[in-house]
Amino acid sequence: MSKSSELVRGRLLSILADNEFHSGETLGSTMGISRTAISNHVKVLSTLGLDIYSVTGKGYCLAQPLTLLNLDEIRASLTISHISDIEILNVIGSTNQYLKDKSISIQNGHTCLAEAQTAGRGRHGRKWESPYAASLYLSMHWSFDGGYSALNGLSLAVGVAIVEALNQCEVQDIQLKWPNDIYANGKKLAGVLIEVEGQIGGGCQAIIGIGINVSLPNIVNEIGQPWTDLGQLSHPLVNRNILAGTLISELSKGLTLFENDGLGPFINKWRALDVYSNQAIKLIMGKQIIFGINKGIDANGAILLETEQGIKAYHGGEVSVRSV
Ligand code: ATP
Ligand code: BTN
Repeated sequence: MSKSSELVRGRLLSILADNEFHSGETLGSTMGISRTAISNHVKVLSTLGLDIYSVTGKGYCLAQPLTLLNLDEIRASLTISHISDIEILNVIGSTNQYLKDKSISIQNGHTCLAEAQTAGRGRHGRKWESPYAASLYLSMHWSFDGGYSALNGLSLAVGVAIVEALNQCEVQDIQLKWPNDIYANGKKLAGVLIEVEGQIGGGCQAIIGIGINVSLPNIVNEIGQPWTDLGQLSHPLVNRNILAGTLISELSKGLTLFENDGLGPFINKWRALDVYSNQAIKLIMGKQIIFGINKGIDANGAILLETEQGIKAYHGGEVSVRSV
């Protein structure tokens, strides 16, 4: 995708963001390009997940108004002094991959956000639907001393920080599903993907990736499980820039606390938010499935499953939790 085409499409979107009709002719003359060029840019924007419709005689209109990411507004919404860089990207493969590629030289708290991802990913290489300006796609870098074991339970601490940020933005009744999902009304609202690189005996660098559905368009590809977005949960809709600033602040605070004190300060909060607390669940580990009652988490962040054999702790990236 060429930089100049991206700039043109960015400008086109900033005009269409008002959710009013704009004719191809007016758009073309405002931007100094032909109507055909406008039509081609609209087609590309549609492939990025934007719901733009056209009505003969009226022009183009976005199905819903857009709030584009804005660095000044994000910085104005920070509730801490955050000295690390915050980068705003337009269309990128994955914000996690972007930070991974530069992680050697960056500070703790260095953050990037994108308007859309073309290769957004979840755990185990699963796809994360990432349509344009419809969600927050955010990754933050943090280095930890003490190797991989220092990161036990990190996704749980991040989950608590996300709930804190959503609550501050007046979004209530959020729950967490072990180990990395954010739920509302029994549906997936957001997910966390933590990717770690490190040296044996040395520290490790974590990329903490967060996707929060803000207002997904109807044209989003089939998502293989029930999902929700903030549009269904909060009225008026949360402003993406305010949410981003609040999230960056809560994440930085949470990661600093986790780095100093470990998972301890987060455990009771996490237990209170557990979507399947004391419910029948199954754990899926490759081909093995174990049924039991969810007894919450232990001090290391492992999930506790009660079966006829008693209560046993399970952890590790291969474990998935499902209700029964
Ligand atoms: P696990 O319990 O193992 O985490 P999961 O199904 O939640 O299982 P993840 O890898 O955490 O899997 O998340 C990726 C999955 O999330 C996808 O396979 C899809 O079902 C779902 N998904 C993809 N995009 C979105 C989205 N924008 N909003 C909600 N859910 C999504
Ligand atoms: C999951 O539920 O498995 C985690 C989804 C994480 C999605 C976010 S969006 C920002 C960051 N970049 C990615 O490619 N993935 C994470």
